[in-house]
Amino acid sequence: MSEAKRLAAEKALEYVEDGMIVGVGTGSTVAYFIDGLARIKHRIKGTVSSSEQSTAQLKSHGIEVMELNHTGNLSLYVDGADECDGNKCLIKGGGAALTREKIIAEASERFVCIIDPSKQVPVLGRFPLPVEVIPMARSLIARRILDMTGGQPAWREGVVTDNGNVILDIHHLQITDPVKLERELNQLPGVVSVGLFARRPADVVIVGGEPPRVF
Ligand code: A5P
Repeated sequence: MSEAKRLAAEKALEYVEDGMIVGVGTGSTVAYFIDGLARIKHRIKGTVSSSEQSTAQLKSHGIEVMELNHTGNLSLYVDGADECDGNKCLIKGGGAALTREKIIAEASERFVCIIDPSKQVPVLGRFPLPVEVIPMARSLIARRILDMTGGQPAWREGVVTDNGNVILDIHHLQITDPVKLERELNQLPGVVSVGLFARRPADVVIVGGEPPRVF
């Protein structure tokens, strides 16, 4: 699958225009995008990064990383996903970077999602849905999730997010109405963010292959 990821990332470079500040996601697919961005770094103004991991890789290439508070809205955000349905709704957060990813997606006019073919699903939920929570609310939210969704929450032990929080992964969901589930989970006190990108889905999805498929 790594070749498919690389091909998707290469295709996404076509969306980068001169003078842009590019929002950069997190993960193994985005790592190929950052490598590609290094080749055209003289053409862009800078980047906004969604994780410490991506920041380190961007800086290692000498690519400027800027603060979202200083850039205003972004024209382009490129990120991967753990699952993608036919409406470009996504599950993200397998790398625990969902909150910053969601903030940058919200700030961006165009969200280009880069995936390999294994990420495409008819209904979201086979991949456990990550939810970032304030540490003291972990057990409470796990109980609420069980009651509300019937899904099985599991604490991703040992993982602390870049924001100092913890992750619950909800297993055994069949997400037929992702916008509704995202809204309901977001309302629970102690939930920082939900790894469903449905209210603000991707605008363009690139599925890596020879040739890449764009929808
Ligand atoms: C990071 O938190 C995630 O949202 C990633 O975008 C997602 O896990 C995709 O990762 P890969 O590109 O490594 O499959």
